[in-house]
Amino acid sequence: MMTQDQLKQKVAQAALPYVKGVGIIGIGTGSTVRHFIDCLAEFKAEIEGAVSSSEASSEHLRKVGIPVLDLNAVGTLEVYVDGADEINPLKQLIKGGGAALTREKIIAAASKKFVCIADGTKRVDMLGKFPLPVEVIPMARSYVAREIVKLGGQPVWRENCVTDNHNVILDVHNLNILEPIKLEHIINNITGVVCVGLFAERPADIVLVSQGEEIITF
Ligand code: 5RP
Repeated sequence: MMTQDQLKQKVAQAALPYVKGVGIIGIGTGSTVRHFIDCLAEFKAEIEGAVSSSEASSEHLRKVGIPVLDLNAVGTLEVYVDGADEINPLKQLIKGGGAALTREKIIAAASKKFVCIADGTKRVDMLGKFPLPVEVIPMARSYVAREIVKLGGQPVWRENCVTDNHNVILDVHNLNILEPIKLEHIINNITGVVCVGLFAERPADIVLVSQGEEIITF
């Protein structure tokens, strides 16, 4: 049986055809994307550069020799490749396990095609079992937490975590996310919230999932 890490490696490899011939690629964050960057490195001569969603991915991209570019300098991206913590059948996602949700959402918004890559454990019927990450301005942490409690969630401060944007993360437990777009709007509207890790308004366009020996695409 394949390990979860082998499944991540396999699905990362399967995403390569989606970036063939694309000069500048949007790059997400996490262990699956790390494998994807390693795969990209093999044909880096064909790649003009990457727009990265985190300091961690930027560092890895530079290490393998792929230039990291500023989103403001490149305009709309053709393709963005990123992982996810949960994926529902509508390709709506929970993201932010790696605390990079805000920059990930910005790159997803600025990209024509969002290709999501994940191992099979990430597929769910309903989002919310994975605690929903919310990036918050530090001084608003307690206020935002109280507002989230009113929505029925249990926010837990992710201690010792400071995002690349110098903010904090609340992980919200016990949410049954029946209406992902609605909840995304409600949480994004709380003063002090920078970004919620629900990617429902702008879901993935293509999802690749490794399940055993198979790659499932939807
Ligand atoms: C980071 C993310 C990641 O895509 C998500 O946490 C999945 O990570 P991994 O590929 O390590 O399972 O949203 O903020």
